[in-house]
Amino acid sequence: MSVGRRKAKVLCWVMVFNIFICILVALSWNLGQGSSGDDGSLRKVRIPYRRFWQQQKLSETFWNREQQRLDFISNPILNSEISNDSLGEPAEWPNDTKALDRCEPDRNVSMQIWDYNSLPLRFQDFLLHMRCRTYPMLINQPHACDSKPYLLLAIKSLPPHFDRRQAIRESWGRAGVMANRAVATVFLLGATTLADHFPDLSGMLRYEAELHRDLLQWDYRDTFFNLTLKEVLFLEWFSHHCPHAQFVLKGDDDVFVNTPKIIHFLEGLPENRAKDLFIGDVIRNASPHRDPKLKYFIPQSVFVGQYPPYAGGGGFLYSGELALRLHNVSRWVPLYPIDDVYTGMCLQKLGLVPDKHSGFRTFDVEEKHRNKPCVYRSLMLVHSRTPQEVIKLWSWLLDPNVDCQ
Ligand SMILES: *[C@@H]1O[C@H](CO)[C@@H](O)[C@H](O)[C@H]1NC(C)=O
Ligand SMILES: *[C@@H]1O[C@H](CO)[C@@H](O)[C@H](O)[C@H]1NC(C)=O
Ligand SMILES: *[C@@H]1O[C@H](CO)[C@@H](O)[C@H](O)[C@H]1NC(C)=O
Ligand SMILES: *[C@@H]1O[C@H](CO)[C@@H](O)[C@H](O)[C@H]1NC(C)=O
Ligand SMILES: *[C@@H]1O[C@H](CO)[C@@H](O)[C@H](O)[C@H]1NC(C)=O
Repeated sequence: MSVGRRKAKVLCWVMVFNIFICILVALSWNLGQGSSGDDGSLRKVRIPYRRFWQQQKLSETFWNREQQRLDFISNPILNSEISNDSLGEPAEWPNDTKALDRCEPDRNVSMQIWDYNSLPLRFQDFLLHMRCRTYPMLINQPHACDSKPYLLLAIKSLPPHFDRRQAIRESWGRAGVMANRAVATVFLLGATTLADHFPDLSGMLRYEAELHRDLLQWDYRDTFFNLTLKEVLFLEWFSHHCPHAQFVLKGDDDVFVNTPKIIHFLEGLPENRAKDLFIGDVIRNASPHRDPKLKYFIPQSVFVGQYPPYAGGGGFLYSGELALRLHNVSRWVPLYPIDDVYTGMCLQKLGLVPDKHSGFRTFDVEEKHRNKPCVYRSLMLVHSRTPQEVIKLWSWLLDPNVDCQ
C-alpha cells in the first residue's frame, strides 16, 4: 500500500468513528430529554430570575439577624438584598464599622427578641452587652513575648485561682525554654466586681503580676457568658503584643498539658500544615441546647441552626498566623455566649475546619487509666485536674525511672 492510501484509510476510519460517537451522543441526549418530563422547559437555557447570591429573608432570630447585619456591613453589595427586606430594620443599619462597637447597654434588644422578658437574667445580660467588645486593660504585659516564643500558652483563669496558676507555672506552663524552644505563658483574667460579691483581690493580683509578669486582666465581669469576650480580647492583645509567636495553646486553668510532646508534634509538622493548624477535641454536628436549666441553654429566639465543627474550649492548639486571621474575622461574627462554639464560627468564616486530635482529652481518659504514668506520656492535654494532680503528673512525666516501653 502506498503511503497516500494508507493515510486515506486511517482518515476514513477516524471519520466513521466520529460519526458513531455523534450518533451515540445524539441518542443519549434524546433519551435524557425523554426521561426528564415533557413540559419542554428543559429545552430552554434557564436564566435565573434572581441573583444566585441572593440572601434569604431577614432572620427572625436575634443572633442570626446580627450576623446578617455584619455580613451586610462587611459586604453591602453581596448582601444588598437583605437591606431591602420587609422587616424594615436594616434601613437604620450603620454603614461604618465604628458603630459596630456599642458599649452602652443596648436596651432595644428587649424589643427585638419576642421572649426577652422570660429569658434567664444572665442571658438578658449577655444580650444587652453583646455589641460591646472593647474593655480597658487593668493589667498588661507588653513584653510577654519579647523572647519571640515558639509556643505561647494562653490560659483562661479567674482572679481567685491563685493555686491553679501557680501549679501551671511550676509544671507544664513554666515559661522560658522547654524542649529547646522558647515558651511564654499568659493568664487571661476578667475583673471581680463588688456586684458579684467578690472580695477585693486587686492588691494580691497586682503583687502576683509583679512577681511573675504573666497576668493579663481586662475590666469586664469574668462570667461564663463573657468567655467569648475573653477570646476576642485575647486575639486583640495577641495581634498587638505577640504576633510573632509561632503557635498558641489556649486552654483552661484546670487542664494538664504535655508541653514537650506538643513541641515535638509541632516540630514535625510540614510547613503547609503548620500555617492553618487548628487542632483539639473537635465536636461535630452539635446543635444548641434548648433546655433552660442547662448551662449551655440557647433560646430559640436567639439562635437557630447547627453549630459548625468546633474544638472543646478545655484546650486547643493553633498557629500564630491563624490567630491573626481569627482576630480579623472575629469582627464579622457577633459574639456568641459559648466561647468554643464562637471560635468554630470564626474558623468557618475563614473556610477552615478544626482537626480532631486524639491526644486532646477534654473529657478525660477512662477512669482505670488515670493513675498510670505512661498514659500521660502519649497525651497532649487532659481535663480536668486539680493543682496538686497537675504537679504530680508533671513529676511523672519527667521521672526517668518510669519505664513506658
Ligand atoms: C430597594 O428598594 C428601593 C425602593 O423601595 C428600590 O428602589 C431599590 O431598587 C431596592 N434595592 C434592591 C437592591 O432591591
Ligand atoms: C454612609 O452613610 C452616610 C449617610 O447615612 C453617607 O453620607 C455615606 O456616604 C455612607 N458611606 C458609605 C461608605 O456608604
Ligand atoms: C433604640 O431605638 C431608638 C428608636 O427606635 C433609637 O433612636 C436608638 O438609637 C436605639 N438605640 C440603640 C442603642 O440602638
Ligand atoms: C460581661 O461583662 C460586662 C462588662 O463588665 C458586663 O456588663 C456584663 O454584664 C457581662 N455579661 C455577662 C453575661 O456576665
Ligand atoms: C487583617 O485585616 C487587615 C485589614 O483588613 C489586613 O491588612 C491584614 O492583612 C489582615 N491580616 C490577616 C492576618 O489576615
